[in-house]
Amino acid sequence: MAGLRRILHSLWISLFFLCLSSTAEDSVTQWPLHNDGYNKVVEWDHYSFQIDTQRIFVFSGEFHYWRIPVPDLWRDILEKVKAAGFTAFSFYSNWAYHAPNNETLDFSTGAHDITPLFELAKELGLYIIVRPGPYINAETTAGGFPLWLTTGDYGSLRNNDTRYTNAWKPYFTEMSKITSRYQVTDGENAICYQIENEYGDQWISTTDKTPNETAISYMELLEENARQNGIRIPLTSNDPNMNSHSWGSDFSNEGGNVDIAGVDSYPSCWTCDLSVCDSTNGAYVAYQVVDYYDYFQDYQPTLPEFMPEFQGGSYNPWGGPEGGCPDDTGADFANLFYRWNIGQRVTAMSLYMIFGGTNWGGIAAPVTASSYDYSSPISEDRSIGSKYYETKLLALFTRSAKDLTMTDLIGNGTQYTDNSAVRAYELRNPSTNAGFYATFHVNTSSGTNEAFHLKVDTSAGSLTVPSHGGVLRLNGHQSKIVVTDFTFGSAKLLYSTAEVLTFSILDGVPTLALWVPTGESGEFNIHGAKKGSIKSCQGCSKVKFIKEHGGLTATFTQSYGMSVLEIDGIRVLLLDRTYAYEFWAPALTTILVQGPYLVRGASLSGSKLAVTGDIVNSTTLEIFAPKAVKSVTWNGKEISTRQTEYGSLKGSLSSSKSITLPKLTSWKSKDSLPERFADYDDSGIAWVDADHMTTLNPRTPTTLPVLYADEYGFHNGIRLWRGYFNGSASAVNLNVQGGTAFGWTAWLNGEHLGSFYGNDSAEQASLTLPFTNVTVHTTKSNVLLVVHDDTGHDETTGALNPRGILDATLTDSTGFTHWRLAGTAGGESNLDPVRGVYNEDGLYGERVGWHLPGYKESSWTSVKGSALSVSGATVGFFRTTVSLDLPSDHDISISFVLGTPSSSALTYRAQLFVNGYQYGRFNPYIGNQVEFPVPPGVLDYSGENTIAVAVWAQSKEGGSISVDWKVNYAAGSSLNTRQINEASLRPVWTEKRLKYV
Ligand SMILES: *[C@@H]1O[C@H](CO)[C@@H](O)[C@H](O)[C@H]1NC(C)=O
Repeated sequence: MAGLRRILHSLWISLFFLCLSSTAEDSVTQWPLHNDGYNKVVEWDHYSFQIDTQRIFVFSGEFHYWRIPVPDLWRDILEKVKAAGFTAFSFYSNWAYHAPNNETLDFSTGAHDITPLFELAKELGLYIIVRPGPYINAETTAGGFPLWLTTGDYGSLRNNDTRYTNAWKPYFTEMSKITSRYQVTDGENAICYQIENEYGDQWISTTDKTPNETAISYMELLEENARQNGIRIPLTSNDPNMNSHSWGSDFSNEGGNVDIAGVDSYPSCWTCDLSVCDSTNGAYVAYQVVDYYDYFQDYQPTLPEFMPEFQGGSYNPWGGPEGGCPDDTGADFANLFYRWNIGQRVTAMSLYMIFGGTNWGGIAAPVTASSYDYSSPISEDRSIGSKYYETKLLALFTRSAKDLTMTDLIGNGTQYTDNSAVRAYELRNPSTNAGFYATFHVNTSSGTNEAFHLKVDTSAGSLTVPSHGGVLRLNGHQSKIVVTDFTFGSAKLLYSTAEVLTFSILDGVPTLALWVPTGESGEFNIHGAKKGSIKSCQGCSKVKFIKEHGGLTATFTQSYGMSVLEIDGIRVLLLDRTYAYEFWAPALTTILVQGPYLVRGASLSGSKLAVTGDIVNSTTLEIFAPKAVKSVTWNGKEISTRQTEYGSLKGSLSSSKSITLPKLTSWKSKDSLPERFADYDDSGIAWVDADHMTTLNPRTPTTLPVLYADEYGFHNGIRLWRGYFNGSASAVNLNVQGGTAFGWTAWLNGEHLGSFYGNDSAEQASLTLPFTNVTVHTTKSNVLLVVHDDTGHDETTGALNPRGILDATLTDSTGFTHWRLAGTAGGESNLDPVRGVYNEDGLYGERVGWHLPGYKESSWTSVKGSALSVSGATVGFFRTTVSLDLPSDHDISISFVLGTPSSSALTYRAQLFVNGYQYGRFNPYIGNQVEFPVPPGVLDYSGENTIAVAVWAQSKEGGSISVDWKVNYAAGSSLNTRQINEASLRPVWTEKRLKYV
């Protein structure tokens, strides 16, 4: 239970403002207003952020442009973010994505150009929190560090080592320069700039405040660089937990402090593999909330309660369930936890993630599978559902409840209710006296259905509500926020037990939308009102009006539908949850819309109202707009509407088209592992000698030469090692490291020796493989081929853990004479700058570009039957092309579906390539992911598409894969996915690829 710290808190204030008393009255002004000394546009105090002197509730969501490499689709994500009522979004940029090698920075090719993010933010009216790292974590390989940084040549990283400093400077400088052009100080939208990430390293000991000078010096270098390169907005930080107390100026005056320190929280554990949730990374107890109020009062009293990351879902681990675990962090989670934060007085929070996207290519860290859906409000396939809608209910409320940006916590506990299982947190705005009562089960893990009444303080005195026969209810894992003295335009709610959704003022008429869970009752009082009537009843019952408290109380029960009351010229809309889900308040206009699956925006010009959005089923459309509106278009087409007697416009929108995709047939195949044979020629430019006898990597090699792939410039996914030896040998011992869920296979002179199939916990595997059933040449040299997979570099302090062969020892032999190595074609040279340096692994077929559009596979073998099969332990490459001709004026989402026919072994690994993009790693022996969403832009909806699959059979049984695709949804939409076909995103095969045989 959150203890109140009013006394301590007042004491602190009186110490700080020596001569000020701390009575309730001057609490309005006693908190210092800060700015960063570089500008006065962004300011903050104990209560909230302020932009241009206006307090704002920063409700933000994180999204990673580099997890959806189609810039035209960033609009789709950000329009959905805006439509849900968010006021901001945040993003990590990813150093690795922009720096293919230590001398190249790419901020211009395809999705590497991030300026559209800033431009969209301005157009849509969303603030931006920029998080450039240089370290970001993010379940991405090496936490966003470029992999050339992981060799040891740059030291142990995340410190003030000059080698590391010189490495991050060009990237960080460029991020600062780009951001500096889009700051809110110049009428653009970036409001703060995060330094490093979850770097809670300011102290060697927080207890006696022993500073960590190295960490401080590192932070100071980053901060100085940001300021030197034009950053004038506040610098922020995100503590990984409530124990590290780093970089906040209320805690100490030590060096390296940022302007606004915040704290990240994942109360439900951040992975959906619940078996790894323990006391160190957040035990998983369903719906158990965490107290933040005391933390902020004690350690950051003069700063707003800022959560740069708050749990928006959880990532999909390799061994986790297909589709992640949306049930653990679904709509109920959003309802309860985000309201909990409001009860804790949080006024700035960013959901991690609002849209997760895809770990395409090799961008994932070992912990996560290809999907980065994250059970986010916006799914990986870009669809929205109950979690998005539930989040919207609250975000629209926070956007309209201006008084919420300045509140004190007055008290909390069960004394507010008449049910000992229900407690409330009372927040009150000290200048307007508006009250917010956030109500919860005493034990939030409990999902019981509790009825209660609530004691509230209003300008008409203390009341117990509801007071006319109804009850308030928490049914299941739910919370409700009851408002008192809530102003909307010229009108005021004395109280409402139904939650406020939003309001608008239309032709001077306040229109207030309230919602209740379907079938529940509500009671509200409009201050000063005298008379009420029912204008429309769709699902309403028990509507009564009672004159009292100097106003009019209305009671109602609302089942499925929306009802309309008129109270002294004020319109009150009563919605049940399902109707509230599809209720929209498009920003930049005053209109309100009910009906569609999504309303992206609206604009009014004279008498014409243009509304844009999506429909997946036929629906009615009801619009509350100014009287001047005479015609309405939906996605550019005029629709017929009629005016209701209460002034709204009603029309209907008919269902979208159903889409059938052509079958994926006419596959051709070719073997993609010539390297296993002893006579394969590895003298080409794809291959380098692995001949280092020393390394700066902190892990000392067990055998020499050093067989760590990164130091030879091959950083990604599958690598091939050819070890030569002469004369006899009876066995080889190999210890290979590639991250959890990795695997490896060895061949001697073309014959399969053995494999490590992998599992979701082993990062390395050592096997001794006897040469009993293979041919060892005694007169010519023998070639051992080791192919290993790599699921990414570890995060945080594990970034330098090498990938490759840690130990290679022959038994009864004079040893290896030399080793050759191949990986991604061109290594760090970035042959394919559009798709980027992490798209390709080192398989033969990838090196020569068989995955790319435009390669001619006509001489390949035609595949018979529907499955793509490999016989024996080798790698098969498969290609087909398929033309799409999908309708315009639709947003269509497609996923590939990979499967293993029952006749096939599971011991294979497959990569899916769509028009050259590696959009899935299918690992049926370990992982459960079978659906792989692929966005338009990667797919061409009005042209030919090249689909390629590499199948690496790890056992002699070979392997078969089935490849199909499906439509996730087809929405009639202002987003025309047929038009997202920028060919420059899909560069074609060229002859230069042939050099990488
Ligand atoms: C990049 O790395 C190479 C070694 O791989 C080194 O020779 C070169 O000096 C580095 N360049 C920069 C700008 O650090």
